[in-house]
Amino acid sequence: MNFAVLASGNGSNLQAIIDAIKKKKIKANLNVVISDKKDAFVLKRALKAGIPTVVIDLKFFKSRASMDKAIVKELKGFGIDFVVLAGYMRILSSYFVKAYKNKILNIHPALLPLFKGAHAIRDAFDAGVKTTGVTVHFVDEKVDHGPIIAQESLRIKKGESLKSLEARIHKVEHKMYPKVIDFFAKGRI
Ligand code: GAR
Repeated sequence: MNFAVLASGNGSNLQAIIDAIKKKKIKANLNVVISDKKDAFVLKRALKAGIPTVVIDLKFFKSRASMDKAIVKELKGFGIDFVVLAGYMRILSSYFVKAYKNKILNIHPALLPLFKGAHAIRDAFDAGVKTTGVTVHFVDEKVDHGPIIAQESLRIKKGESLKSLEARIHKVEHKMYPKVIDFFAKGRI
């Protein structure tokens, strides 16, 4: 199975995926990393690991749909079977979702359907919930939405700082996402 990672930022999840592939904990090929941000650190991580990168920036397209057509074209060109969103901060058009129906995964740093959006860890922290966590789900046309595949919860400690919570959430993500990706690649989801 061949997959692509789409990401917009730091790429710590991509790094966890690359490390898991090296340790043979993911038995699938990561053929390309696509980003919508040309300066995203995630691209440096991909290049360092020798993985081809492509930048597809909305500003060069008339619409989100035409941007997604270009992405799907790249994915097909790289022989991609499934797509992994790892901090890709865009809503996918229905064209994209249909092209890879039930073959697009996303990770979100909260217990969906709670705290959707780009600041989930902070939003949960500010809301004062006692428990938050991480969700991996199939992607549809809505933000952080679609059938849930896996969730892990995490208790927010009394007096814990946001920084500490963020670090613990990311630690869970970095363990959980490679596992789910490997399961998916093996046809076990
Ligand atoms: C991760 O925490 C991921 O769950 C989150 O973006 C971060 C990307 O970090 N995704 C979302 O919030 C999706 N709504 P990374 O670039 O270091 O992997």
